[in-house]
Amino acid sequence: MKKITAPTPPPQTFRRLLPPPPRWRKDLAGVLIPEDRLARRVRQLAASIQHDYRQHEPVLVALLSGTVMFLADVIRHLELPLRLDFLSVSSYGASTTSGELVFSKELRLDIQGKDVLVVEDILDTGRTLTAVLEKLRAQRPRQLRVCVLLDKPARRQVPVTAHYTGFRIPDYFVVGYGLDFAERYRNLPFIGVLKPELYGADPQKK
Ligand code: IMP
Ligand code: MG
Repeated sequence: MKKITAPTPPPQTFRRLLPPPPRWRKDLAGVLIPEDRLARRVRQLAASIQHDYRQHEPVLVALLSGTVMFLADVIRHLELPLRLDFLSVSSYGASTTSGELVFSKELRLDIQGKDVLVVEDILDTGRTLTAVLEKLRAQRPRQLRVCVLLDKPARRQVPVTAHYTGFRIPDYFVVGYGLDFAERYRNLPFIGVLKPELYGADPQKK
């Protein structure tokens, strides 16, 4: 990794869609963030985290399963004595807004007095992250910060912001680079926009 700088350049908003690879043309309206842009931005975020946590031994708490690629790419650039743990949370019920959040995987590490950095794939309504932060705060970490790859501010219902944000995106339902629709598309190496006709009326059902 080259020179360590902080703070990170502000997140860019991507709007223009690029043509998807032939294999995914029937599923995707387009590619929103290509691989090289993801890689470049991940390196910037990592540089910023490396700088901010240089005197610390952070515990990274990643939310399953959407963070897999993002997490793997960020941490390989960090030269910190970090530890890693995972939480899994899903909403239970028919729609995003009414669904109750249920934790299906708890932390293994004790985070009391630790510097915790939550890693999440996408900040949408803000409900998931709010519940996660509340849960973690109850375990009395010394510091609690958030790193998200994507932010969809247009859909926010609960005011919550991240300390590190990769990209701001318009109100598209996106897949790839770990993000899914009905558990599919996590393996795409880019962020793509799903064709609306594939998800019908309720894309955010999760
Ligand atoms: P929130 O609680 O509404 O902020 O939703 C956050 C969660 O919803 C994320 O962790 C994702 O699992 C899911 N999500 C929200 N928007 C999208 C999207 O565009 N694509 C895939 N998953 C999404
Ligand atoms: Mg998620």
